Amino acid sequence: MKAYIKTFGCQMNENDSERMMYLIEKEGYSRTYNIKDSDLIILNTCAVREKAKNRLYGHIGNLKNLKYKKNNVLICIGGCISQSLREKILKDFPFVDIVFGTHNIAEIPQLIKKRLKTNKNICSIHEEGFDPGIFKVKREKIFKAYVPISIGCDNYCSYCIVPFVRGREKSIEEEKIIENVKDLVIKGVIEIMLLGQNVNSYGNDLNGKYSFSGLLEKISDIKGLKRIRFMTSHPKDFSLDIIDMIKSRDNLVKHIHLPLQSGSDKILKKMNRSYTRKYYFNIISNIRRKIPHCAITTDIIVGFPGEERSDFMKTLDMIKSIRYNRAFTFIYSPREGTKAFKMNDCIQLDDKKKWFRELIDIQQKISFDENKKIVGKKFEVLVEGNSKKGLNMLEGRMENNTVVNFKGGKDLIGRIVPVIITGARSFYVTGDLSKE
Ligand code: 5AD
Ligand code: SF4
Repeated sequence: MKAYIKTFGCQMNENDSERMMYLIEKEGYSRTYNIKDSDLIILNTCAVREKAKNRLYGHIGNLKNLKYKKNNVLICIGGCISQSLREKILKDFPFVDIVFGTHNIAEIPQLIKKRLKTNKNICSIHEEGFDPGIFKVKREKIFKAYVPISIGCDNYCSYCIVPFVRGREKSIEEEKIIENVKDLVIKGVIEIMLLGQNVNSYGNDLNGKYSFSGLLEKISDIKGLKRIRFMTSHPKDFSLDIIDMIKSRDNLVKHIHLPLQSGSDKILKKMNRSYTRKYYFNIISNIRRKIPHCAITTDIIVGFPGEERSDFMKTLDMIKSIRYNRAFTFIYSPREGTKAFKMNDCIQLDDKKKWFRELIDIQQKISFDENKKIVGKKFEVLVEGNSKKGLNMLEGRMENNTVVNFKGGKDLIGRIVPVIITGARSFYVTGDLSKE
């Protein structure tokens, strides 16, 4: 039997899909990338923006034909949209077999068995829950792994649906994380990404017994781990000890993703982000002072309710002076149930789109200029797989997460190799494998 899993959204969802694959493999399913070939289809959904929901609805609609042609294929919808829409998915798409949420992934095998036995579609959503089997996953890459360190979020940024679909923040005990990372290294993993909605507040819910920098230190001590990344940081909890820890350890990568969201204090306040532009600037100058070559990336939302041209200009001003290596930019998307949903939004979508374009153009130029600066230099690159850029081309990542495309044989996949950078684009660089 074959299973097709499609993941929408963030790394947390990708990690959840790996857990789903682990569980259904035990039930006798192997993975297929051809949907027509599958006996079980799981769509693992994202609810962060409306666009993701619209795309999902398109996808489910397309599955209707497949279901009519192949009646015994099971269609399952999981993830954040299921968690927020619940039975509504079955009402809109009665041919869907199983709807499950973010807190009951471990239940999938029982749900499949029940569905096959009863022939009735099922919606099973839990309000909260913690799966002790959270580290049990089926990974696609041997050398690289996600490591969840906390789930949920307590920050309630006013635009964000995550706290509603992922629940309150729960940190995983340090000992369990360390044990898992050691096990991964034995299995051949050289790069990990620690995952949490706000990794910097790691341990706050466990009576202050643990801290994020303490966790980084212990993980960094594990022999054989070459690169440790983490995602995502919240400026309000990004303390100096984290910067010092990154500086002091070679295997803590020199890349920090620090979502700014807006450069205007008025908007930051309405977003409930709990920091000011000055506070954020201060973190950046501390990073730059202590780790001069650290790459910094960010997330920005354009068109938040009440944002005026003057607020947007403040965001542009920060983008220009910080000069991020990369920025992930989004047009504000109203999410029902969040505080911002009820805020008065009088800016026209056309204006938001214009501002958005302006922001992208400026950031692309900055990313391009930053990438040009490294042409001619040599970097260690972790080869991740074949590149789409051409035959015999490989794709890898520098320590600071910049994507590098270069010529080389498949045997290099999973290894860290030296590459001399020869060309720059906004989103990646090109290079040649170095002989030494
Ligand atoms: N609209 C637009 N962007 C959003 N994000 C989160 N919620 C929304 C929303 N309602 C963005 C933020 C966050 C990133 C993962 O997604 O920038 O950091
Ligand atoms: Fe959403 Fe804010 Fe939590 Fe990030 S920190 S998941 S943006 S509520």
